[in-house]
Amino acid sequence: MKPDSRIAQKTGEGETFEEVLSRRIARRSFLKSSLAAMPVVMLAPTLLNTQAQAATPDKLLFQPVPLGTQDTIALPAGYSAQVLLRWGDPLFTDSPAFDLANQTAESQKKQFGYNNDFLSYVPLSSGGRKDSRRGLLFVNHEYTNPELMFQGYSADSVTRKQVDIELAAHGNSIVEIVYKNGQWQVAPRSRYNRRITGETRMEITGLAAGHDWLKTSYDQAGSFAYGTLNNCGGGLTPWGTILTCEENFNQYFANVNALPASDPRKAIHTRYGLPTGASERRWEQFYSRFDVAKETNEPFKFGWVVEVDPFDPTSTPRKRTALGRLKHEAATSVISKNGLAVIYTGDDERFDYLYKFVSRRPVDRFNREANMNLLDDGTLYAAKFNDNGTGEWLPLIAGKGALASWSQEEVLLNTRGAGDAIGATKMDRPEDVEVNPVNGKIYGVFTNNTQRATSGRPGTDAANPRSTNRHGHIIEMSEDRNDAAAESFTWNIFMLCGDPAANDTYFAGFDKSKVTMISSPDNICFDKQGNMWITTDGQPGTIQKHDGVYVVPVDGEERGYVRQFLSSVIGSETTGPELTPNNEALFVSIQHPGEGGTFDSPTSHFPDGSNAPRPSVLVITKTGSGVIGS
Ligand code: FEO
Ligand code: CA
Ligand code: CA
Repeated sequence: MKPDSRIAQKTGEGETFEEVLSRRIARRSFLKSSLAAMPVVMLAPTLLNTQAQAATPDKLLFQPVPLGTQDTIALPAGYSAQVLLRWGDPLFTDSPAFDLANQTAESQKKQFGYNNDFLSYVPLSSGGRKDSRRGLLFVNHEYTNPELMFQGYSADSVTRKQVDIELAAHGNSIVEIVYKNGQWQVAPRSRYNRRITGETRMEITGLAAGHDWLKTSYDQAGSFAYGTLNNCGGGLTPWGTILTCEENFNQYFANVNALPASDPRKAIHTRYGLPTGASERRWEQFYSRFDVAKETNEPFKFGWVVEVDPFDPTSTPRKRTALGRLKHEAATSVISKNGLAVIYTGDDERFDYLYKFVSRRPVDRFNREANMNLLDDGTLYAAKFNDNGTGEWLPLIAGKGALASWSQEEVLLNTRGAGDAIGATKMDRPEDVEVNPVNGKIYGVFTNNTQRATSGRPGTDAANPRSTNRHGHIIEMSEDRNDAAAESFTWNIFMLCGDPAANDTYFAGFDKSKVTMISSPDNICFDKQGNMWITTDGQPGTIQKHDGVYVVPVDGEERGYVRQFLSSVIGSETTGPELTPNNEALFVSIQHPGEGGTFDSPTSHFPDGSNAPRPSVLVITKTGSGVIGS
């Protein structure tokens, strides 16, 4: 399939845009792969689904929603959105009611946290079937907006009380939710309900545990951490645990400049973007662990994928060092042909890498406990995208080739440096990476990169084909032999986002006059037909419209026909899209509503019309029930 023939914009590499693109636009032959062999995520904790699901006849028939500028959630006719959970909502029978003017850390520990991001609906098993009416919702609380949380907040006069509330507002919530009497509701008496915060004790596991760089004044063994921070994306494993990803952990630390240049940790902290001086949040004023001058190794306790068992509220979360240390974004599990666990993950930074981990041992389909430490041992790979549409998974193995002088512990602690050394492909912000359960292909979402091919920066390549990539793109990948453990793959560009009227946008060849404008694709999920649901992060900055939820078929006649399904509110980002197994409920995070305003001058009044905007989880259903999008 040829891209639009008018495309002739010059890239940074002396090649026309059309030349770069035409080599890597969708090759239809990839569609003809066998469906039966596709790895599928097991959705029940004790049941492995080994068959690809058959596509259902539901069509996307909703009326697309125009791009939004109002402070209301816009949906197609026939759909309604319910606020399921909002910042401060009680999660336990003894949770205090939310009181904006009298917040305490103790209250926040028993309430829903701030800035909900990744959402995973984990069905509670009903006779081994996937339950679409009762489940656990696992939620990431990525970060806090203190300027919206506290009256008169100023970083220059931050108080310990504020910092403690913020620490308690980070982390995760696990909440049992039930569909009853036509409404989704929280079950406050559920034995599963749990808050994990920026202070919850966690175990550090895998090869790097115990390394000198993980030892601190309070942990001479280098074996544990306090809390998880900046949890952005995540995923559900086939054995029913959650992987929650620590992303922009750098922002919590201060004073890298206090380290001498001769200290190898200084270069690593710098590669990960830690501040040279004070942090923006100033937590270091109250907690020395956030001050690199005092606790040089504390940052090494962050940047991991954390595994949490949502079925055991007393379990200790585990930071899995085998999956590498980076600004993790998503952790998507599939099972390889030989039964190995494969986890796809990305490093959300301009010019950073896409990764996957392959376990050494196979998943035990009959013994859940046997999988509980599976992610401590395996091979980590970084992706190299060749311009000819092939690709390689480069193993990050110490002692060989470019990593000859490295130890494997160093590879895991400084994964970015290892990726640099082996020559992985520098991508335009790897955000989500997900496997389509219907066609078995892997979709990597690259949010944007306005620095691409600018002065002193890497130029374009076939996988990152646009200079100053403002609107982001999506790449479609197929593992060789349809085996998730393969060390090579093929790929093509699925979508180049932006204004459909612009020459450098591409929607898998679909008629550009029909699609909704989309910018900065961020998180995705798939419905049971294999349609891709997309949330965006950044449209207010790039197209001066609110972020939203979109859907696009990836196969059939409507492949590439992207339409907006939901438009969000002022200053917010849409994240964490998730469907129930029957596809009759769509959960979506409305993150940081009113960002850009302050407590005293709010720009958004979502969700309650009051002066205080509150990050919230919406659940969207069709009037009188029905499949979302149909
Ligand atoms: Fe937290 Fe990469 O978004
Ligand atoms: Ca995100
Ligand atoms: Ca984000």
